[in-house]
Amino acid sequence: MNVLIINGSPRENGNTAVALKEMKQIFAQESIEITELNVGSKAIRGCIACGKCGTLGKCVFDDTVNEAALLLAKADGVVVASPVYYASANGNLISFLDRLFYSSHCDLAMKVGASVVCARRGGCSATFDELNKYFTISGMPVASSQYWNSIHGRLPGEAEQDEEGKQTMRALARTWCFS
Ligand SMILES: Cc1cc2nc3c(=O)[nH]c(=O)nc-3n(C[C@H](O)[C@H](O)[C@H](O)COP(=O)(O)O)c2cc1C
Repeated sequence: MNVLIINGSPRENGNTAVALKEMKQIFAQESIEITELNVGSKAIRGCIACGKCGTLGKCVFDDTVNEAALLLAKADGVVVASPVYYASANGNLISFLDRLFYSSHCDLAMKVGASVVCARRGGCSATFDELNKYFTISGMPVASSQYWNSIHGRLPGEAEQDEEGKQTMRALARTWCFS
């Protein structure tokens, strides 16, 4: 089994990464292969609605989105993780996901999806819902945990102190092991 992990934080070693570290420990224990992609600090333009992907089978802008589409086609599941910005996901990540899910023509049905969000305080469940929408329009079952998949912290590394958040991430990764 291979899981594609997409981190939408521009802080590669920030708090979103703390949440993903907890999940990766479980994946390693269960011999689940992972492929990681950091998109938070890349310059990713938004969809321009040109519709060319309908004939090309990929995005007209040949960047990290098309690379990710190949990884997604091979993966059995995907984790999309984002810091919360103004009660929403990171803008770069949304540009990336709009183009990835609109342009990629691989069959996503029954690939498992999970979203992970990280905030100082507020906007987690709105962001969690926002990210899950990409899965639930694509025939993808959504992996869940013992709480909505969120972790809290402001400065990089602060999320290490959020024991409940970290446990939520480990439980989320474990649901994968039974899928
Ligand atoms: C532009 C911006 C907007 C933010 N908006 C929110 C917010 O709406 N709610 C919140 O609790 N934290 C907000 N934060 C704080 C981040 O979510 C928090 O620092 C988080 O730990 C960032 O994760 P990272 O370290 O993985 O980048 C915001 C931070 C930035 C830079």
